[in-house]
Amino acid sequence: MANTIPDITLNDGNTIPQLGFGVFQIEPKDTAEAVGRALEIGYRHIDTAEMYGNEAEVGQAVRASGLDRGEVFVTSKLSNGFHRPDDARRAFDSTLAALKMDHIDLFLIHWPLPTRYDGDFLSTWKVLEEFRRDGRARSIGVSNFQVPHLERLAAEADVAPAVNQIEVHPYFGNEDVRAYGNAHDIRTEAWSPIAQGKVLDDPTLLDIAGQVGRTVAQVVLRWHVQRGDIVFPKSTTPSRIEENFRIFDFELDDATMARISGLDRGEAGRQGPNPDTFDYLPD
Ligand SMILES: NC(=O)c1ccc[n+]([C@@H]2O[C@H](COP(=O)([O-])OP(=O)(O)OC[C@H]3O[C@@H](n4cnc5c(N)ncnc54)[C@H](OP(=O)(O)O)[C@@H]3O)[C@@H](O)[C@H]2O)c1
Repeated sequence: MANTIPDITLNDGNTIPQLGFGVFQIEPKDTAEAVGRALEIGYRHIDTAEMYGNEAEVGQAVRASGLDRGEVFVTSKLSNGFHRPDDARRAFDSTLAALKMDHIDLFLIHWPLPTRYDGDFLSTWKVLEEFRRDGRARSIGVSNFQVPHLERLAAEADVAPAVNQIEVHPYFGNEDVRAYGNAHDIRTEAWSPIAQGKVLDDPTLLDIAGQVGRTVAQVVLRWHVQRGDIVFPKSTTPSRIEENFRIFDFELDDATMARISGLDRGEAGRQGPNPDTFDYLPD
């Protein structure tokens, strides 16, 4: 079986490679090298954010790769500090300037911040709709939106988000939010897909990995893609960047998929912040 990365078609007709490379917590000085390595291996989708502080280095690596801009799908996200419409417009200009790109493939509201900005993420979303209309963002979406936040956009926005990027891994299936996305043609992007390494010594997952002759990371990433979600594991270790790429040349059967889904601990399995209360603003 060839290791070919499938393209997923979004609700706006654009396509996104189902596997990408995440750069959260990669120091700016290490980012160009890691992204360059990922592009060499064959990744064609990079997930960054203003708040990661490494957009410029992502752009640098894409240019240095020699690939055409159109061959690499680039996502970035609006900083929590810039939800007010004029700030969001300036921040988006800065993102494109840092990347040295004239458009981005996908731009997201990073967090809904329901306890900030008088709970108004709608006017922020309207500004992302402008970026889509003027073509500088090919697709727009959200991140860490809970079902009531998505319902509010459905009721009041002109454009539905193409994706919702949320925490999902075997210990936290986030099934309610995923189900809403599936029912409304909003694709789920699963962040921290291997729970930043915390699922890697799980006995059930080790058992499955032994049975299928793969590593635990590969088994977990494969579980995500068979569920239809988009993933972009992060690593600065060359052998792991390569390992995480080799997940399209084997398959998990239904019983194994169910065993992995059965590890869900509900809210107790969440590793990152709860979007209902998360209110971080950068300095
Ligand atoms: N929207 C959001 O709010 C949000 C939040 C968090 C993350 N994200 C996105 O999702 C991406 C992925 O999530 P994440 O970075 O939090 O966590 P992750 O991809 O689940 O895990 C990354 C950690 O796992 C290690 N690792 C990676 N592959 C491995 C392998 N094959 N074997 C053993 N260890 C391995 C890495 O170590 P080394 O680097 O040392 O190899 C790193 O410590 C981020 O980079 C970011 O793009 C978005």
